[in-house]
Amino acid sequence: MALLEVKDLKKAFGSRQAVNGASFSVQEGEIFGLLGPNGAGKSTTLSLICGLLKANSGKIMVDNWDVAKDGAKAKKLIGIVPQEPALYPMLSAKANLGFWGTINGLTSNELEKAIDEVLKVVGLEDRADGKISKYSGGMKRRLNIAAGLIHSPRLLIMDEPTVGIDPQSRNHILETVKHLRERDITVIYTSHYVEEVEYLCDRVAIMDNGQIISEGTLAELLKRGSEYQELTINMNSFSEEIQNTIQTLPGVEKAFSLNEKLKIITSNAEKILPLAFETIVGHGGIVSEIKIHKPNLESLFLKLTGKALRD
Ligand SMILES: Nc1ncnc2c1ncn2[C@@H]1O[C@H](COP(=O)(O)OP(=O)(O)O)[C@@H](O)[C@H]1O
Ligand SMILES: [Mg+2]
Repeated sequence: MALLEVKDLKKAFGSRQAVNGASFSVQEGEIFGLLGPNGAGKSTTLSLICGLLKANSGKIMVDNWDVAKDGAKAKKLIGIVPQEPALYPMLSAKANLGFWGTINGLTSNELEKAIDEVLKVVGLEDRADGKISKYSGGMKRRLNIAAGLIHSPRLLIMDEPTVGIDPQSRNHILETVKHLRERDITVIYTSHYVEEVEYLCDRVAIMDNGQIISEGTLAELLKRGSEYQELTINMNSFSEEIQNTIQTLPGVEKAFSLNEKLKIITSNAEKILPLAFETIVGHGGIVSEIKIHKPNLESLFLKLTGKALRD
């Protein structure tokens, strides 16, 4: 049975349609990826699910509780890890968790055990008493996850939990999320990082312009994107002229530049590669690096939208 069901959800801010008819469902026990570029409507969707914003139309059911009618009941089942850590810098980790636990209705008897447990989950038990103003960015993010878990939610909603932190903290968070499965916690993992979603998630919904443009198991989505390959070519002097010429080669779905590298989406990498080479050299360019990527969620997104996730 679906733990979360979102149907035809819409939310506008003035004339901006942030969520525009999004539908998807999350099954109990899975790590569900919500993947989309900045501005796709992910955070707004999460706020609607948590009852922090009110939808203009559509329906959200959490374990058969209608968020619009039984918001308080639905909320109890949900833990939130917002994009920006919501923590008091002058308080210790324990005090911060105590605050969030109390807000979420834990009694003082329940609090201590809950705090110890969630600190263990995120690996901060040794730093429980220090002021968190002394924490690194990554440690704050981990504590933020602990705060989301404090009332033992069945569904943990994480909004881009690894943006702007060091690689080591990032790995720590990814491993923590993987292990939540063993604790029977269902996770919505929101990100614009393809690698993270591919590493963690059982099922994925891809969001763009307020809509879900593809949803399925990771294997299903990868298969949908598999007719395309992505090439990255690094050269000394990228020019739009080169890009435009390569764009017209037969078999090139799309050519564009990303971080000064040329990206080519093609259904026939073997054929396109020498032609692309010829074009670049013909325009006086020197190729310094070429990568052929396996089909991934990025190539599916490109195929569906014609643009890169990280534009
Ligand atoms: N409170 C708000 N007021 C006005 N516009 C907003 C607000 N929140 C989000 N938006 C707009 O809605 C769109 C979706 O934003 P958001 O849900 O934050 O996307 P994402 O999380 O995928 O980056 C964006 O165009 C954003 O600028
Ligand atoms: Mg967001």
